Amino acid sequence: MGLMASHRSAPSVHTTTKVCLLFSVLLVGMTGMASAQLSSTFYDKSCPKALSIIKSAIVSAVSKEARMGASLLRLHFHDCFVQGCDASVLLDGIDGEKTAFPNNNSLRGFEVIDSIKSNLEKECPGVVSCADILTVAARDSVVALGGATWIWQVLLGRRDSTTSNKTAANIDLPSPFLDLSGLISSFANKGFIAEEMVALSGAHTIGQARCIVFRDRIYNETNINPSFATARQSNCPRIGGDDNLAPLDAISTTSFDNAYYTNLVSQKGLFHSDQQLFNGGSTDSQVIAYKLNPISFQQDFMKAMKKMGNLGLLTGTSGQIRTNCRKVN
Ligand code: HEM
Ligand SMILES: *[C@@H]1O[C@H](CO)[C@@H](O)[C@H](O)[C@H]1NC(C)=O
Ligand SMILES: *[C@@H]1O[C@H](CO)[C@@H](O)[C@H](O)[C@H]1NC(C)=O
Ligand SMILES: *[C@@H]1O[C@H](CO)[C@@H](O)[C@H](O)[C@H]1NC(C)=O
Repeated sequence: MGLMASHRSAPSVHTTTKVCLLFSVLLVGMTGMASAQLSSTFYDKSCPKALSIIKSAIVSAVSKEARMGASLLRLHFHDCFVQGCDASVLLDGIDGEKTAFPNNNSLRGFEVIDSIKSNLEKECPGVVSCADILTVAARDSVVALGGATWIWQVLLGRRDSTTSNKTAANIDLPSPFLDLSGLISSFANKGFIAEEMVALSGAHTIGQARCIVFRDRIYNETNINPSFATARQSNCPRIGGDDNLAPLDAISTTSFDNAYYTNLVSQKGLFHSDQQLFNGGSTDSQVIAYKLNPISFQQDFMKAMKKMGNLGLLTGTSGQIRTNCRKVN
């Protein structure tokens, strides 16, 4: 802009052309920025403490309640699969994603995100997006529960949406009643191959689920370990108790390991959809491989998570940095 001012006094045709050129260059530059790549150093200057503030909040939340790590990981997944990683899942409102079928009465962790956001607003107002907080929180949660113990660098610079789409959440989030082909196509719709879907599903090595989502499986399915079915039935009656909880992985409920795949091989997947990954189909061999090789699971999981974190980004000047993750500015 300083350049333009210096030409203001007597603009010749020649300088006008130059100014136009300069403008075009600026415009192209800005459009380029809107689709800019994320960067691991995005907040290094604007909010150097951002990552350590998030990390200590997650470590403390997970040490208070291990399940919170699972809930925060799921929150990031449900954000990214619906109009991209733009914190749309965090917006309150009757038509918000929170009220969609896969989310209503099961998504958790909003208060932890609120508290991190308010600390970050004190430290560096208007700088760190809610979408980036979710991404870092998911990574730190996995690490706090013993997963991906080597460096898992997250890319930053996402911005927040001004909209939340309940219809899209109902369409885009996979249902626990899907068969293998439905799971593969749900992830293919977001650009993932079947192998990445199998790796991401390993997230079900932590956390809890409500009786209502696994009742049919424990009473009616035949590809299930009978003593496992009986054990689950004890806290999930045929009628009532819809909200009673069971661990997704009964071997090591709060540790981010490969036991999910061990469970599948013994027909102890909790959801219909889980057991579909090991049911005589094309993904069986990968499940066995992850059961035998925990490192390869952790590596593939981390890689697929990074890819998930790149879905449908708002960057540059698109969207906004919300002050309150629940509301648009
Ligand atoms: C493959 C398709 C998937 C299906 C069908 C599915 C479905 C579900 C369902 C139905 C629940 C329980 C919700 C309730 O209690 O109402 C759940 C929990 C969970 N899901 Fe998934 N999910 C899938 C993939 C993923 C992925 C990709 C991630 C993360 C990368 C993930 C992370 C979690 C976690 C951590 C929990 C436990 C949450 C808690 O304890 O609060 N899931 N999932
Ligand atoms: C979400 O859950 C609440 C509380 O159980 C219920 O009142 C509401 O009707 C549900 N909303 C939708 C859209 O299903
Ligand atoms: C919400 O999502 C649905 C399904 O993907 C889509 O058809 C619709 O255009 C979206 N609405 C808005 C306002 O973006
Ligand atoms: C199991 O299957 C029967 C017969 O199809 C059905 O009536 C019932 O609702 C199903 N679910 C449970 C939990 O029993």
